[in-house]
Amino acid sequence: MNGAYRLAITGLCSGLLAAVGCQAPGKPGPEPEVVRPEQVLDFATLYKQNCAACHGESGRNGLAVSLANPVYIELAGKDVVVSVTAKGVPGQLMPAFAKSHGGTLTDQQVEILANGIITQWGHPQSLAGLHPPSYAATLTGDAAAGEDDFGMYCARCHGTNPVAHVPTVGPVTDPSFLALISDQSIRATILSGRPEDGMPDWRGFGPHPLTDQEVTDLVTWLASKRQSAPGQPYPEHP
Ligand code: HEC
Ligand code: HEC
Repeated sequence: MNGAYRLAITGLCSGLLAAVGCQAPGKPGPEPEVVRPEQVLDFATLYKQNCAACHGESGRNGLAVSLANPVYIELAGKDVVVSVTAKGVPGQLMPAFAKSHGGTLTDQQVEILANGIITQWGHPQSLAGLHPPSYAATLTGDAAAGEDDFGMYCARCHGTNPVAHVPTVGPVTDPSFLALISDQSIRATILSGRPEDGMPDWRGFGPHPLTDQEVTDLVTWLASKRQSAPGQPYPEHP
């Protein structure tokens, strides 16, 4: 049998007939090792294949929140990382990865990803002795106070006035940007910053660390801009 023919048979076998134990005629031998997707159990490969496109090659400088940020990891904790990876963020660009939620990864692979993120990029105890605002919001926000806070703590970088002579970074007050980010992700970004880009965490915006109320107010104001219709600066708040 010539080589090309044997190759064709082998291809056919692995593609269609592997399940019934097909072998090239007259050439008994072991099946070639095929690594099935669910057999990938290595953090670096799983991360590269599934997460790097949005969260950056090394967990930072991506489009979405930086995962290689010890402050983020400490605040969010493993349960959040597992649950968001498994279930995604409904209505946002973060996909659900667990097979049980329509994704492609086994629960074991989700666990490996969460453990890898935490052990490679976290620093346990990095927030020891500090009292950061909680990862999830618990208070009621005040949009007007949030607007003032934005002017005090954020506008020097995220200037809202295009004519102002200040360097502006991402348009975080732009309604179409805000449509692409959930309240929780805004909160997580304010709390944990973007260290690789020079955005501080909740401790570094002003003369004192941001309080939970200030963080909540900021998110409420930004969220109100997302929902606003043209011509309406922001809805009345209670
Ligand atoms: C298609 C782009 C995309 C891919 C691929 C992606 N993410 Fe995300 N991820 C996002 C976006 C966007 C958000 C923020 C969603 C929001 O607005 O809440 C996010 C949020 C998260 C969060 C929660 C951050 C928070 O607010 O606490 C975690 C954890 C996370 N992703 C982990 C992963 C892991 C692990 C993978 C790979 C298995 C992955 N992501 C792949 C886009 C992506
Ligand atoms: C010292 C400058 C600086 C300050 C102050 C600052 N930021 Fe940022 N921020 C950045 C940079 C740089 C980025 C990342 C680059 C970008 O997204 O354009 C960023 C990114 C963000 C993002 C994510 C944008 C994205 O593309 O995912 C949000 C949300 C955000 N900032 C909100 C805030 C809020 C709210 C405040 C005030 C509490 C604030 N920032 C204060 C520099 C700053």
